[in-house]
Amino acid sequence: MTDCILERQPAQTDLFTQFLTALHADGMERVVPGRERSPECPRAGTGPIRVGACELHHGDAAGILPTLPAGSVDLIVTSPPYNIGKSYETRTPLTHYVAFIEQIIGECHRLLGPHGAMSWQVGNYVHKGEVIPIDSLIIPIFRSLGMKVRNRVVWSFGHGLHCSKRLSGRHETIVWATKSDDYTFDLDAIRVPQKYPGKRYYKGPRKGELSGNPKGKNPGDVWDISNVKHNHPEKLDHPCQFPEELIDRLVLSLTATDDVVLDPFAGSGTVGAVCNRLGRKSILVEREEKYVRMATRRLAGHAV
Ligand SMILES: C[S@@+](CC[C@H](N)C(=O)[O-])C[C@H]1O[C@@H](n2cnc3c(N)ncnc32)[C@H](O)[C@@H]1O
Repeated sequence: MTDCILERQPAQTDLFTQFLTALHADGMERVVPGRERSPECPRAGTGPIRVGACELHHGDAAGILPTLPAGSVDLIVTSPPYNIGKSYETRTPLTHYVAFIEQIIGECHRLLGPHGAMSWQVGNYVHKGEVIPIDSLIIPIFRSLGMKVRNRVVWSFGHGLHCSKRLSGRHETIVWATKSDDYTFDLDAIRVPQKYPGKRYYKGPRKGELSGNPKGKNPGDVWDISNVKHNHPEKLDHPCQFPEELIDRLVLSLTATDDVVLDPFAGSGTVGAVCNRLGRKSILVEREEKYVRMATRRLAGHAV
């Protein structure tokens, strides 16, 4: 969701997108020229649609999550609204915002199975120049539910707003917390190349053996991954899109094949798209109809 603290540029809307938007707006059949028929967008309150292994709900997370069965989810990956006045949110006093997030996290906790985990990607709430890191607000909520924080990953990126009265923000965080001590963590699935792959012990009983793991090294808790700005190949017309590489790492390390991943603030559907590609089931919830349409088309493999 890096755009929330980054320089805003006019959303790119090409002629093709305008054409699709017009088609959808007047209720005509949702057919892209030269392509197969595209799926219908779920209407709010009429139940989800399925696209691949993804179940997509159109509605408010506060209303949809209580309708889902307890213990039915293995991992929650999400980026909530930051209460900073984006197009899809209304700014509220900080106490109201925290109460809302607490309600959603409480529901997410109910949905998690006993070995489940949450990874919340957050930035800053900024009010009159004061910066409040949102992870400082959600970690106490996790802990009050008995969850244990396993990592606070720093996601760093090169581009963003140039601040004049404080240092320019170039990172956000991902808080990973588990419901119990028995949780999934597949390190091998996300190892990165060793800096010196041929390095060997030069003395001692293991002299001559490789000193690093030949499968690669632990990626650490600082991840430098480009944010999805306007020239990014994955860029859709959503202001706060996750880069797929970020979600790949979380899904690969924190779930097994066929596990269920939930994103209660799905936006353009990045979590669902990654899960479909990696063989995980997913449940997405999104309140804004235009993003539900975007996610529906993306998940079905159509241009958006
Ligand atoms: C930070 S964006 C998520 C972007 C997403 N990670 C992606 O890759 O596109 C937050 C999303 O939550 C949606 N949203 C805000 N309040 C919501 C609510 N109460 N229930 C469901 N969705 C909500 C917004 O419309 C927005 O698309």
